[in-house]
Amino acid sequence: MAISHILVTGGCGFIGANFVRFVLEQRPGIRVTNLDALTYSGNPDNLAELAGHPGYRFVHGDVRDRGLIDGLLSDCDAVVHMAAESHVDRSIQDSTPFISTNVSGTQTMLDAVRSCGRPIRLLYVSTDEVYGSLPLDRPDIQFREDTPLAPNSPYAASKAAGDLLCRAYHHTFGLDIVTTRCSNNFGPFQFPEKVIPLFVTNLIEGHQVPLYGDGRNVRDWLHVLDHCEAVLAVLDRGRRGEVYNIGGNNERSNLELTRAILSIMGRSEEMIRRVPDRLGHDLRYAIDATKIGRELGWRPTRSQWPDALEQTVRWYTGNEAWWRRVKSGAYREYYARQYGG
Ligand code: NAD
Ligand code: DAU
Repeated sequence: MAISHILVTGGCGFIGANFVRFVLEQRPGIRVTNLDALTYSGNPDNLAELAGHPGYRFVHGDVRDRGLIDGLLSDCDAVVHMAAESHVDRSIQDSTPFISTNVSGTQTMLDAVRSCGRPIRLLYVSTDEVYGSLPLDRPDIQFREDTPLAPNSPYAASKAAGDLLCRAYHHTFGLDIVTTRCSNNFGPFQFPEKVIPLFVTNLIEGHQVPLYGDGRNVRDWLHVLDHCEAVLAVLDRGRRGEVYNIGGNNERSNLELTRAILSIMGRSEEMIRRVPDRLGHDLRYAIDATKIGRELGWRPTRSQWPDALEQTVRWYTGNEAWWRRVKSGAYREYYARQYGG
């Protein structure tokens, strides 16, 4: 049965806003309800142009509000649950909101789907961080869907808890659940606490970029629209109860990434400020995305390096009003706590 009305949670965040826009563009006639609590990273400006769109509705609310969710599920046929506390460094400062939203919030969503009395597919947007860390000297190893979960940060542990709750609700109650585990996303509308928008906007402001530790840590970078396309493919055609890895096959060390940004922006390595390492910093993430390619025919097409990075850098240089508003107020306090000064 074709999906006609999706409840997206966290649609005012980075991936959520790109996903809501992507779905409405790709599926004329579909309806999307976006439930978002508008935490520090939720920004209604990200979807400002959708005001008045006949297929779009925004609901300001919390995924832990069971009564609200029950009401919203009454005419939806699918849920894409991506609302979360998403930043590793914040989870190291204080894990409380991570456990509350990422674990209890996911449980609330699952209980609501379980008791709504109609078959609703729920897609849980998990992360590759649930697998833990890979060694730098074993490029032959990647995360597969059957790699044991070994989360290392409070953020990753909270996402793994949500991921395992999804597995349990499928197994115990037969709920129609699919899970995606994606690598690091980049693209427009990313909150400038994450490394790419942080570094680009710091450079525009004339500040140095704080590189953690020796910069050898590796991430697998995927353009956010490739992620959105993969999520939609899994929502449409993924097998019930299955997990699908999503990755860009695009591993870069943080130093390599930093140098690429400096080069695009015409800055020298003097702009790098070496800062103490993140506690428990995962060394390397690498995704084996064979399964989604084989079963659903998905492959990344928008993550070409360095062109896609350059386009992203240009988006931030061209949208200064957006990030200047975001990078003010309470964010300044977080930045000072994290980096000092
Ligand atoms: P983000 O921080 O930019 O957005 C999170 C959104 O969730 C915000 O709009 C926020 O207001 C909302 N939210 C937070 N708590 C809420 C609550 N209690 N109720 C309702 N809404 C709430 O995060 P993001 O980078 O867009 O990540 C989205 C999802 O994708 C997360 O689940 C994250 O774990 C996952 N993910 C992210 C990446 C990445 O590289 N960014 C990669 C893989 C998976
Ligand atoms: O892998 C998927 C995950 O990617 C998602 O689940 C998370 O929600 C998302 O935040 C992201 O987590 P990371 O911790 O990998 O992303 P972040 O942008 O915070 O950091 C990327 C790398 O850059 C990491 O190795 C730490 C490093 N870094 C980060 C910051 C913020 C720095 O060197 N300096 C910094 O100031």
